[in-house]
Amino acid sequence: MRDIVTLISNNLAEVMDDLGIDKSDWTPLLTQATDTAHGDVAMPCHALARVMRKSPVVIAKEISVACQDKMSSIAEVDSINGFLNFTATPNWLENAVADVASDDRFGVNIEKQRIIVIDYSSPNVAKTMHVGHLRSTVIGDALNRMLTYKGHHVVPENHIGDWGTPFGMLIEHYLELESVAVVDIDFESFYKKARSKFDENEEFANKSRNRVVKLQSGDESTLELWQQLVDISLVHFNDVYQKLGVLLTNEDLAGESKYEVLLPEVVTRLEQANLLSFSQGAEVVFLEGWVNREGEPLPLIIRKGDGGFNYATTDLACIIDRVENIGSTEFLYVVGQEQTQHFAMVFEVARNAGFMDESIRAVHIPFGMVLGTDGKKLASRGGLAISLKDLLDEAVLRADAAIAEKNQELSESERAEIARIIGIGAVKYSDLSSDRTKDYTFDWEKMLSFEGNTSPYLQYAHARICSIFNKSGIKRESARESVISLVEPSELALARSIIGFAEALDDSCEKYLPHRLATYLHSLAQSFAAFYENCPVLIAEEESVKLSRLALCDLTARILNTGLDLLGIESPERM
Ligand code: ARG
Repeated sequence: MRDIVTLISNNLAEVMDDLGIDKSDWTPLLTQATDTAHGDVAMPCHALARVMRKSPVVIAKEISVACQDKMSSIAEVDSINGFLNFTATPNWLENAVADVASDDRFGVNIEKQRIIVIDYSSPNVAKTMHVGHLRSTVIGDALNRMLTYKGHHVVPENHIGDWGTPFGMLIEHYLELESVAVVDIDFESFYKKARSKFDENEEFANKSRNRVVKLQSGDESTLELWQQLVDISLVHFNDVYQKLGVLLTNEDLAGESKYEVLLPEVVTRLEQANLLSFSQGAEVVFLEGWVNREGEPLPLIIRKGDGGFNYATTDLACIIDRVENIGSTEFLYVVGQEQTQHFAMVFEVARNAGFMDESIRAVHIPFGMVLGTDGKKLASRGGLAISLKDLLDEAVLRADAAIAEKNQELSESERAEIARIIGIGAVKYSDLSSDRTKDYTFDWEKMLSFEGNTSPYLQYAHARICSIFNKSGIKRESARESVISLVEPSELALARSIIGFAEALDDSCEKYLPHRLATYLHSLAQSFAAFYENCPVLIAEEESVKLSRLALCDLTARILNTGLDLLGIESPERM
């Protein structure tokens, strides 16, 4: 309803001029109403009492009278207790809905293109992907789709952890496992076993250190072993990506190893900027205001005493690459909130060192933990770590059971496909529909329910509309041509919801909060349910009413489908 606020503001200008009220006094007072039962736009007149030397009640009355003939085609105006309420007329809503219906972007504009790097998913080689990586993958992918839709050039980067000192011990451990078939490597215990051998066995530790030196000096046979480890891990990552249906491919890999060559350059540049200090044998950067728990200055470690570079050093190199090679002006890091301090320090060092200037927007997009229904961190089940692949398979199985109950007419293969779409959609949507900055509870019952703010509820609304059309024998394309007329309150309410799509998407993109779009889609589906309950469609008495309602159905389904797609969720036509 952003449009109606603008429109009312534009039309009110003349009225207010006549009354001698200054623009700067009244324009900030107009707000979109939270409860449409009282109108679409509200204006409290209390702040005008001072300048007009009249009571707010009198002012509101005067303005409403002056509005009567000037604005009657746009909105009805009421004054109550010093408030003005503007309610869009059915005629204005009809025009607004017709505009959305005839636009295949539903009113969403294309912004001036920005090159946006989104750093997401980013699991670690030779380790299993955990639920935190699942969140990053799902949220990052939704932002990728939404910002692309807004016209931006999105560069997805999967910053996998594929480099650094642990790779010495990982490669040595891999060599000792030689007899195990590659596909059978259990990454759940792989890292832990390598680490404990490293800690307990001096000989193994020495071999590992040697191996790091070889790896970093580009020894060919070591690089080959390293590549094998990376490739095996990629099979696992890609398996999860494919099940999830995310956009990431091997083309988007930009792992830590990619930036290795730039690391000495980072040190040189920090030195030139006079930022580097020595602390306990390591090269570090101290930043003003950063202290540890003991109140001592907290350094960002660039190069450890043993010569090894740090996680932060790679991120600094990565910033140089994004600015100088990719030419991006906006970097989004979809990474858990436990890394907040890391990113704040890295960004500050990068700015101080001149790696990025004010024109560049670097944003950490944090998210909370995934909790089980017991309120504890969802990490393991009876001591066994949860494998993401198993989790997604379980989602599909559970969805299959749920639809078997609901619809017995589906063929075996149709059911399998629908179960996949519903199961995966449920996992993604339950994540995306909650405010990412908070912890969220992973709850099978809730996410797979056909009631509430869930993807099955939205998908069902979409499928239901498809089935209305199937029954009607009318093609959706031809329903699109019909004139929409709005009479019943639930038709008006659905129309109000429909025209809010562009605004909801913009709001979601601006704050990088996918749940805003999800909340909108849920309220659209709710408005549709109320409309469908109150307004007969196929058995409407007049043909023109039937066609108008079918056009509303079609438009709702198109927006649901597009909105879910922007969240990375499919909408089946049958359920
Ligand atoms: N691999 C890291 C982890 O699993 C996440 C990397 C995030 N991206 C970055 N540029 N630091 O914690």
